[in-house]
Amino acid sequence: MGKDVIVACDFSSAQATFDFLDKFTEEKPFVKIGMELYYAEGPSIVREIKKRGHKIFLDLKLHDIPNTVKKAMAVLSKLDVDMTNLHAAGTIDMMKAAVEGLTREDGTRPILIAVTQLTSTSEERMQKELLINSSINDTIVQYAKNAKEAGLDGVVCSPLEAGMVKEGCGSSFLTVTPGVRFADGDVGDQVRVTTPAKAKEIGSDYIVVGRPITAADDPVAAYRRCVEEFVG
Ligand code: C5P
Repeated sequence: MGKDVIVACDFSSAQATFDFLDKFTEEKPFVKIGMELYYAEGPSIVREIKKRGHKIFLDLKLHDIPNTVKKAMAVLSKLDVDMTNLHAAGTIDMMKAAVEGLTREDGTRPILIAVTQLTSTSEERMQKELLINSSINDTIVQYAKNAKEAGLDGVVCSPLEAGMVKEGCGSSFLTVTPGVRFADGDVGDQVRVTTPAKAKEIGSDYIVVGRPITAADDPVAAYRRCVEEFVG
């Protein structure tokens, strides 16, 4: 599995998404579809974007009882997404059920990655509200190990956490990392950011980049710059 740049298509309608994708006449970027767009437009948005030749990371972060997650994953697998995800907090049993649901008859399946702790969760809140007494870093690494044990391919994490995840789970365990900004770019609401070049150095396998590309004056040029810095 090669390194790639995934463009976060955080648009609220199919039309806005297609207007954006129409700008790419040469490349077919790997795109991330999140809850907002999927809930607004339904599975047809996935079929449409696939038909246009893009790979899709469907970011729905499933978390429910194992049987429900297994059945939902079977539906996503039929939609032919290339990558999807769930919350590792659902336990190893839930993650194993997800792998089963996602696996097609011929044994193939989309890449499945886990969210460990959301980057919006602070260590203080995790300890006080969720009653998890470990450090947030230990929790992230343990959840990543659980995901690996369940047969998942990797985790979503901050590029700054990618090193410790690789150390705990091995270099072939994938790290998919948002929070990427150009050195001369706007940070926006992201707090812990790195550049595409730095993410490459740290060992991220996929970077997820939204506004630095979607809000750029020239999104195609911004995408190319990301690919050049990250993939080389
Ligand atoms: O626009 P920006 O580059 O900040 O977009 C990053 C994308 O990655 C968004 O879709 C955001 O929801 C997602 N994401 C994130 N941090 C996480 C998990 C997902 O920024 N921990």
